[in-house]
Amino acid sequence: MELYEAIRLRYSCRQYFDKPVEQEKLDRIFDAARLAPSAKNFQDWRFVLVTEKNTKLKLAQAARNQMFIAQAGAIVVACGISDYVMRCGQPCGAIDVAIALEHIALAATAEGLASCWIGSFDPDEVRKILDIPKDVAVIELMPLGYPADARRTPSRLKIDKIVCMNKWQFVDYKEFSA
Ligand SMILES: Cc1cc2nc3c(=O)[nH]c(=O)nc-3n(C[C@H](O)[C@H](O)[C@H](O)COP(=O)(O)O)c2cc1C
Repeated sequence: MELYEAIRLRYSCRQYFDKPVEQEKLDRIFDAARLAPSAKNFQDWRFVLVTEKNTKLKLAQAARNQMFIAQAGAIVVACGISDYVMRCGQPCGAIDVAIALEHIALAATAEGLASCWIGSFDPDEVRKILDIPKDVAVIELMPLGYPADARRTPSRLKIDKIVCMNKWQFVDYKEFSA
């Protein structure tokens, strides 16, 4: 699938068929994650891939009972192992993991799968469920699976609302959405 098509087709899927994701698809998807850029090439992401039904249910409960997560064939638990702060003042951990995770979302789309970013969860609960050490940040969850819902297209800001030329020219820039 062409990149722009994958970008257009990706959406937050909140209903999945009870069907496992083939290992060869997962291999290609995680290869896409592996190739993501990271600060100083730290590659400071680690992913726990959860396919056991009972563990998926526990994760869904830890994600404020967003039970659709447990329907998906697999749940990616995206973790960061670095607390390095870049010269710009931003910690790179969540940024690096987010880039790799969006590679995963787009690669999953190219494989005919759907996904959903999940930020609403209790990280300590997830840590407990999966035996993740205290010094590892649990950054996001992402179910991957075969979509059982129709793709929606939430509105997006127009380009002139998010890009300006040569100097800051935004007015009312604290508006968060369309
Ligand atoms: C960092 C992040 C966290 C999110 N957390 C959740 C979540 O906990 N539950 C959920 O259903 N959707 C979650 N979403 C999905 C957003 O609601 C969704 O991306 C947004 O509404 C745009 O819709 P789209 O992804 O279908 O284009 C999250 C998205 C991002 C990027």
